[in-house]
Amino acid sequence: MNIAVFASGGGSNFRAILDKIKSGDLKNAEIRAVISNNSKAGALEIARKSNIPAIHMSGKTHPETKRYEKEMLELLEQYNIELILMAGYMKLLPSAVISRYSKKVLNIHPALLPRFGGKNMYGMNVHKAVLESGEKWSGPTVHYANEKYDEGTIIRQAKVPVLNGDTPEILGARVLKAEHDLYWRVIDEMVNGSSS
Ligand code: GRF
Repeated sequence: MNIAVFASGGGSNFRAILDKIKSGDLKNAEIRAVISNNSKAGALEIARKSNIPAIHMSGKTHPETKRYEKEMLELLEQYNIELILMAGYMKLLPSAVISRYSKKVLNIHPALLPRFGGKNMYGMNVHKAVLESGEKWSGPTVHYANEKYDEGTIIRQAKVPVLNGDTPEILGARVLKAEHDLYWRVIDEMVNGSSS
């Protein structure tokens, strides 16, 4: 299955998936392109080092919305993309992309949705909110992405404990580790129908 990854930041989730493909644990999956709204994204750097096309597309490169949407669809077609993975992508995908790839766009969120999601729930904001709520559990959610932040149907979650003395950073690192272990398994299930 031909995959495009959308990422805005460091790209550790992208790297974790790539490692699983390289090690042979995740079969029949190929990352054909990495797309970022941030020209300095670590994810683009990782892609370049692995000879994967690394593409910067944003309001700066494409100030006209219609052209931006059209070129994004063309790009996905050019690489024969069948599955889209959002991995720390800070923007919503254009609705034309969401409808073209219905049930083929996944996102990972660093908390147990439907709580702790939405527009401003990203990065440390999420882990701060979890700690302030007094919840005893957190963990990543993989869900279908739609036109709203963090609202598509939930596919799979992993639970990690919230421990005494946790700071947002410590909890965030624990959740991120669980993300790396969860995302590729969901992809494996979609691509190969197996549940690792
Ligand atoms: C992850 O916590 C992910 O859940 C969220 O953004 C972060 C991306 O981290 N959507 P990375 O760029 O994959 O390291």
